[in-house]
Amino acid sequence: MNQIETYIQGHESQFLEDLKSWLRIPSISTLPEHAGDVQRAAEYAVEQLKRLGIEHAELIQTKGHPLVYGEWLQASNKPTLLIYGHYDVQPVDPIELWDSAPFEPSIRNGNIYSRGAADDKGQVMVVLKALETLFKVNGTLPVNVKVLIEGEEEAGGESIEHYIKTYPERLGCDAAFICDTHMPSPEVPALITGLRGIIYTEVIVQGAKQDLHSGTYGGVAPNPLHALSIIISRLKDADGHIHIPGLYDHVRKASHEEKSFWEQDPLHMDEAFLREMGVSQLSGELEYPPLERVSARPTLEVHGIVGGFTGDGAKTVIPAVAKAKISMRLPPDLKSKEVFKLFEQTVKDAAPSGVSVEVVNLHGGEGVLVSTDSPVMKAASAALEEVYRTPPVYLREGGSVPIAALFDEVLNVPVVLMGFGLPDDNLHAPNEKYSLQQFFNGIRTVASFLQKMA
Ligand code: BES
Ligand code: MN
Ligand code: MN
Repeated sequence: MNQIETYIQGHESQFLEDLKSWLRIPSISTLPEHAGDVQRAAEYAVEQLKRLGIEHAELIQTKGHPLVYGEWLQASNKPTLLIYGHYDVQPVDPIELWDSAPFEPSIRNGNIYSRGAADDKGQVMVVLKALETLFKVNGTLPVNVKVLIEGEEEAGGESIEHYIKTYPERLGCDAAFICDTHMPSPEVPALITGLRGIIYTEVIVQGAKQDLHSGTYGGVAPNPLHALSIIISRLKDADGHIHIPGLYDHVRKASHEEKSFWEQDPLHMDEAFLREMGVSQLSGELEYPPLERVSARPTLEVHGIVGGFTGDGAKTVIPAVAKAKISMRLPPDLKSKEVFKLFEQTVKDAAPSGVSVEVVNLHGGEGVLVSTDSPVMKAASAALEEVYRTPPVYLREGGSVPIAALFDEVLNVPVVLMGFGLPDDNLHAPNEKYSLQQFFNGIRTVASFLQKMA
């Protein structure tokens, strides 16, 4: 057994303890009452960086939550790798559906259960423990590293965007590595070739200046809940087609290779979708293969609707206001700012008369496609093959990590999207988990990746 392997096996429980301590901090970035916890989670990451050997580690204050930054640049004549992850997590509701408390990490049947286990503290800890292993075994790192861990990814990530655009030279590097994605199964490693962008909006429909008795005013009053329903039903039809004029014009044509991968679906991911969702048929645009629908097609989803009376019993009221949260996923080339304008116009055009409609742009981010033949991608691929004993598949993922496009555009360097999550990790949902086997294989892979990159 080589020294790297010996170190990893000898420190399994310590690695897990360090992850658990981090997971116990409820760093929910979108809830203001957790701002102190977000700060503590950032400080914990700085501590970890310092302890593993990255002396230049600090918090960078922003208008929002702090960035964690650490650099180690003593590998002369070696490339510099910028490593990204996020320490913030999603809210935990509905909390009653968790089998164990979300911020009391629990290990059951080979998984660690906790909010943030897979998204993204577990994956960041993979990288930190790979760095620690290399440092302790070799007394040095094979490449230069700049580690940037953000605390607003789940809340739109405005501060990091501002930082990167203001100080691109500080983040100068030869390649970027983002550890915040999945692989199809523990036997099938993957490198991610693309992510979708996103716009996240709130549609607010206002009717009368106050709630009204539905007997007295029914017949003359505007009903904003009904108006909202009409708007929503006009945005997307039952076959999954989005009715926003101009939206589909810019969707980039995929390569033949990608198209045939989607059509053949050699990993039978369509069956996995049915199983994971517990439904009997897939929804959406039947004329496109499921793999293309979840990774390369635009989507529009309603996340929540509020308004009117929802308590027990009956109340005859015509509500004054109704609201919906609606987001869209955008394949590369559909730019979030432009799509927001189209969305806003379509919503306003769809509104029946008698109500006023406001469309708020809560946040947005761009999609990305990365090159598969950069030298760093080759190093990542070789590292995955070494650990998993089979070469990785190249896949797009439908989720969004807006930083990827910024690294690509602003820093203009190759981006490696390599993560160790699994499809059933319950991201953003109750009982989020991370596989322990994936955690330790991830550490092996990242350590090997850095060595091969050098
Ligand atoms: N890690 C996820 C993105 C992701 C999910 C990538 C699944 C690959 C597979 C990330 O933390 C996330 O949740 N992003 C948000 C977007 C953000 C702007 C709020 C998302 O995709 O909803
Ligand atoms: Mn994430
Ligand atoms: Mn997330």
